[in-house]
Amino acid sequence: MRLAVIAGDGIGPEVVTEGLKVLREVAPDVEPTHYDLGAMRWQRTDELLPDTVLDELRGHDAILLGAIGDPSVPPGILERGLLLRLRFELDHHVNLRPARLFDGVTSPLADPGPVDMLCVREGTEGPYVGNGGVLRKDTPQEVATEVSLNTAFGVERVVRYAFERAVTRPRKHLTLIHKTNVLTHAGGLWSRTVEEVSAEFPEVTVAYQHVDAASMFFITDPGRYDVIVTDNLFGDIVTDIAAAVTGGIGLAASGNLDVSGTNPSMFEPVHGSAPDIAGQGIADPTATVLSVGLLLEHLGRTEQARKVNAAVAFDLSTRSPQGPVRTTDVGDRLAALASG
Ligand code: IPM
Ligand code: MN
Repeated sequence: MRLAVIAGDGIGPEVVTEGLKVLREVAPDVEPTHYDLGAMRWQRTDELLPDTVLDELRGHDAILLGAIGDPSVPPGILERGLLLRLRFELDHHVNLRPARLFDGVTSPLADPGPVDMLCVREGTEGPYVGNGGVLRKDTPQEVATEVSLNTAFGVERVVRYAFERAVTRPRKHLTLIHKTNVLTHAGGLWSRTVEEVSAEFPEVTVAYQHVDAASMFFITDPGRYDVIVTDNLFGDIVTDIAAAVTGGIGLAASGNLDVSGTNPSMFEPVHGSAPDIAGQGIADPTATVLSVGLLLEHLGRTEQARKVNAAVAFDLSTRSPQGPVRTTDVGDRLAALASG
C-alpha cells in the first residue's frame, strides 16, 4: 500500500503518528511517504501545494492527512490553497462522515438513544468553489457574492453514492438535507435528482428536511437518521453537529473520496490542528484511527478495517469515563487491540 502522509500542523503530526502505528499493525505492507505541507512550509517557502507534489500524490493508493492550520496564517490561505485544493484537484466528490455513538461514549444529550448515521457530504461544489467576488471593497457600498455551484453531474454522482450506501445498511433510509424553500435553484436540482435516482433503489425510503429543521432534529432525535446526503456547506455544518452529539470531534472521522478511483482518496479526522493543545501529547488520536478504518474499507481491506474499528469500539467501551487521554497511550492500546 503506497500511502502519502500529510501530517500537517498543530496536533496533526501527533495523531497521525498513532494512526500509522495502528495501520502498521493490521497492514504491514503499508509504505508511507511523508509530505511536508502546511503552515510551516508556507511560512518557510511561500509554497502551499506545488504541482510537482500534487503529481506525486496522485501516484499513491491513498492519502492520510492530520490537520492543516495555524493562527499565524491569515484565514483562507491554507484552507483554499492546500486543503480545498487537494479535495478539488483530486476530485474528492464524496466527503464521507460517519457519526455513530459508540458504547461507553458520553453524548452531551441526556437520552440520545442509538445513533448511527452516515453523512454523505458533497465535496467539490457548492459555495466552496470560490465563485463570486467583491465589488467596491472597503467602501460603504461593498458588495460580496459567494455563488454556490451545483451541477447535474456533481449532484447525481453524490446522490447515487448515498443511495448505494443506504441500500447496504439495515435501515435503508436516506435523508436529503437542503433549503429548497429558499434556495430554489439548487434545491430543485437536488430534489429532482434524489427523486430520479430513488427510482433505481425502491428498497430505500427517502425523507427530506430543511437544514434548519434538521439541525434541530440532530439534537432532539438523532436516532432518526441513517444515511444523509447534502451539499458541501450544509454538510460541513451538520457533520459538526453530528460529531458533537456522538462524543465530539475527537472521535469524528472522514474520507474524501474519488469514488471513480481515478485519484487517491484522502482520509482525515474532522477536527483541526488545535494549536491550543498542540505539543502536549493530549490530543485524542481516535478520529485519525477511525479515518484509517475508513481508508482500509475504501481500499477493500474489509478484515483489516474491521480490526481497527473493533479496537476503537472496545477501547471506547472500556475507557475511564471520558477522562483525559494521552495520545501515545491511546495509540499503543489501539495498536495492541487491533493486532490481537
Ligand atoms: C472540514 C473543515 C474544512 C471545511 C475547512 C477547514 C476548509 O471545516 O473539513 O470540515 O469547511 O470543509
Ligand atoms: Mn468543518
